[in-house]
Amino acid sequence: MQDQPSPPPSSLAGTARRVVAVTGAARGIGLAICREIVDDGQYVIAILRNSARVSEVQAVLGEHGRAVVCDVGSDRSVVELFANIRRQEGRLDVLINNAGIIEPIGRISETDAAQWATAIDVNLVGAYRCVRAALPLLLANPPDSDGQRGLIINLSSGAAHRPQEGWSAYCASKAGLAMLGRAIDLEYGSLGIAVTGFAPGVVDTGMQGQIRASGINPVSKLPRESLVQATGPARIVAALVRHCPVAYRGQEIDARDTAIAGLVRD
Ligand SMILES: NC(=O)c1ccc[n+]([C@@H]2O[C@H](COP(=O)([O-])OP(=O)(O)OC[C@H]3O[C@@H](n4cnc5c(N)ncnc54)[C@H](OP(=O)(O)O)[C@@H]3O)[C@@H](O)[C@H]2O)c1
Repeated sequence: MQDQPSPPPSSLAGTARRVVAVTGAARGIGLAICREIVDDGQYVIAILRNSARVSEVQAVLGEHGRAVVCDVGSDRSVVELFANIRRQEGRLDVLINNAGIIEPIGRISETDAAQWATAIDVNLVGAYRCVRAALPLLLANPPDSDGQRGLIINLSSGAAHRPQEGWSAYCASKAGLAMLGRAIDLEYGSLGIAVTGFAPGVVDTGMQGQIRASGINPVSKLPRESLVQATGPARIVAALVRHCPVAYRGQEIDARDTAIAGLVRD
């Protein structure tokens, strides 16, 4: 984990802004979430896998956040990141586990075992690593009027609940992530940790480009024009960061559900 060159504010204590950490923030849905949360007046820690896009993402955040490098596939990198957040911001209110990969795409016998394990390591174990490191910070917050001390949003998918041909690793990782959410709710819900799995719909990002290129299942055949832009689900995530309704805590929710889409204010 490396810091950006220019130092962020040393502490946000005493401000009403929430401190929100977003993994996989270099592009796609993660970057759109960062934009929306900054526009909403919160403070964002944008977590990038490598340093190539740090200055571009920092320019998006301006003074309302900082871009940091952390590979969620590395225990050490994740532990260092959250120790750094404790030192720099002094607190954390929301963790958004967005980092994810779709590869390997292929029928099970065609996939490489090491690549399959990497998908589980990034999509599932990466989220676990971040949750484990973030929990002490989240639990240290005073409860709000609903008893919530911290919020965890895991980027879920229809693939968590329905297999798609060629996506065995991705589907297994997202199904595991959904169960991780239930485990967090069971163990920490009564202590004030709210957790929600959020499926963003079929979104026009680099991941969908990889899916289209594979041509293996019905999702890969969807015309690009039919996909939603990342801003839509990102606005819903920003609304959840403002206030995650009690009814959604411990649940998997979907951007295509009209009640969920209705969370976004005009
Ligand atoms: N797009 C969809 O239709 C869709 C649908 C359902 C769910 N989702 C979920 O939404 C999330 C975002 O997807 P997306 O479509 O925005 O994907 P994307 O455009 O491929 O972006 C994924 C992001 O995750 C980052 N990442 C990958 N491995 C990482 C690691 N080890 N450590 C830190 N960051 C890492 C990538 O970093 P680099 O930029 O360095 O590669 C990239 O910034 C994923 O969890 C995905 O499963 C997407």
